[in-house]
Amino acid sequence: LKSLTEKMEQTFIMIKPDGVQRGLVGDIISRFEKKGFYLKGLKFINVDRPFAEKHYEDLSAKPFFSGLVDYIISGPVVAMIWEGKNVILTGRKIIGATNPAESAPGTIRGDYAIEIGRNIIHGSDSAESARKEIALWFPDGPANWQSSVHHWIYE
Ligand code: TYD
Repeated sequence: LKSLTEKMEQTFIMIKPDGVQRGLVGDIISRFEKKGFYLKGLKFINVDRPFAEKHYEDLSAKPFFSGLVDYIISGPVVAMIWEGKNVILTGRKIIGATNPAESAPGTIRGDYAIEIGRNIIHGSDSAESARKEIALWFPDGPANWQSSVHHWIYE
């Protein structure tokens, strides 16, 4: 497998409380699974205000920050690590543009969301944020398993 020597990436994906409440967990996980990405971590949890503020610390000066934190702590979320080649960028494409008014149909936000403040899902936007977010949400790191279909996905 040529790709065994290529760099695999990991990204942090979170289904926000509205995605859970609206029954979209299975659909969202299915999209990442069917693409060929590997699930390397999954937790169903409520986070508290300091934790949500830490996750979004880069946005702390924004006017929407406190509303964003209220939203994230309003119910349980599904926190995940997904692994694969280019998974950070491709994950963002599967999710769609931040504002659902601009997300293409076929993307998660394009298909299921209307407002920017209820946009269903989070995905790391760079290698640096993926590393930070995985460390914050999964201090024990990813699960260690190998997919048996690896050579059917990668050449
Ligand atoms: P951001 O990191 O810019 O977007 P993304 O989630 O696509 O990486 O913003 C984080 C979240 O903040 C975004 O998903 C929704 C919320 N948000 C607002 O509520 N209002 C806004 O004007 C922006 C830019 C973001």
